[in-house]
Amino acid sequence: MSKILVIGAGGQIGTELVLALRKLKGNQAVIAADVKDTCPSLLAEGPYVKMDILDRELVRGYIINNAITEVYLLAALLSATAEKNPDFAWKLNMEGLFTILDLAKEGHLSKIFWPSSIAVFGPTTPMDNTPQHTIMEPSTVYGISKQAGERWCEYYFNKFSVDVRSIRYPGLISYKSLPGGGTTDYAVDIFYKAKAREKFTCFLKEDTALPMMFMDDAINATIQLMEAPSENVKIRSAYNLGGISFTPKTISAAIKKVMPDFEIVYQPDFRQAIADSWPNSIDDSYAEKDWGWKHQFDLDAMVKVMLENVNVELVAAK
Ligand code: NAD
Ligand code: SER
Repeated sequence: MSKILVIGAGGQIGTELVLALRKLKGNQAVIAADVKDTCPSLLAEGPYVKMDILDRELVRGYIINNAITEVYLLAALLSATAEKNPDFAWKLNMEGLFTILDLAKEGHLSKIFWPSSIAVFGPTTPMDNTPQHTIMEPSTVYGISKQAGERWCEYYFNKFSVDVRSIRYPGLISYKSLPGGGTTDYAVDIFYKAKAREKFTCFLKEDTALPMMFMDDAINATIQLMEAPSENVKIRSAYNLGGISFTPKTISAAIKKVMPDFEIVYQPDFRQAIADSWPNSIDDSYAEKDWGWKHQFDLDAMVKVMLENVNVELVAAK
């Protein structure tokens, strides 16, 4: 029987991942953990523990004493927030990973999921249909931490047989919880403004293409990768994962098909340079070949679901 701990469960991915894992494994088998004092209301049907991933001894004690078998480590600072506090971003994004990798190395965990990002790529990477194995010279602290994390994951697998699995998520789009400070957040924010019938000011230029994905696809990929037989998981740094690629102009055109009065204006800020250093689109053929990955949601399908489901009160309550 697996006993799963999701650390950073109160965030954009964690909320939906915990819900999906609980559906699969049962409420009591999946413990949500976050540094936040209170459990997000969506996760109230299962166990919640307040936990700071930087408190190494507390995390070790909890995992060992509660016989946790699998950890999904999601706590991190994302690209835009990390640029504002690079020292802390490096500390948070790296120290937590070592705590969990070491527990697995010592035999306390059988499997780990730790997410990487398209931020591992940089301005010298081929931008279109970016290959799995290519030049990686990230120019953000977030990207540097993810690339270093990938190298350490692969090292722990090779040297200590730690069963660690990872995906380079593209920008994720969802409505159950708000995004946490990334460069791709515009593609979520845009729906709240559209739904509120307000003009949207985009912090990227209209022609900035980025790889993106609807959250249901990302959650399915994560669970598919974690459920795959170990021998099928041939890449132990992180898998490229493609979904949809679009620009602010294309997504606003897709929204206008449903809401013809929707208006967008462009006011690029520091996040433009981050976006310019990332790929336009991703080649995910290794994920397809190794564990059967295929995305479901195209742009129009994702726009439809988002417009039907975003709740503008979430933003007001933030
Ligand atoms: P998020 O910011 O929405 O959520 C992160 C969660 O971690 C928050 O609930 C936060 O309270 C918690 N947290 C922060 N510090 C903590 C600490 N010290 N101890 C415990 N919990 C702490 O982030 P997200 O979008 O859900 O991303 C999760 C992971 O996926 C991150 O590693 C991120 O880099 C990666 N990722 C996300 C995306 C995306 O588009 N959302 C894309 C690529 C990679
Ligand atoms: N969505 C993330 C970000 O923009 C990509 O890792 O930071």
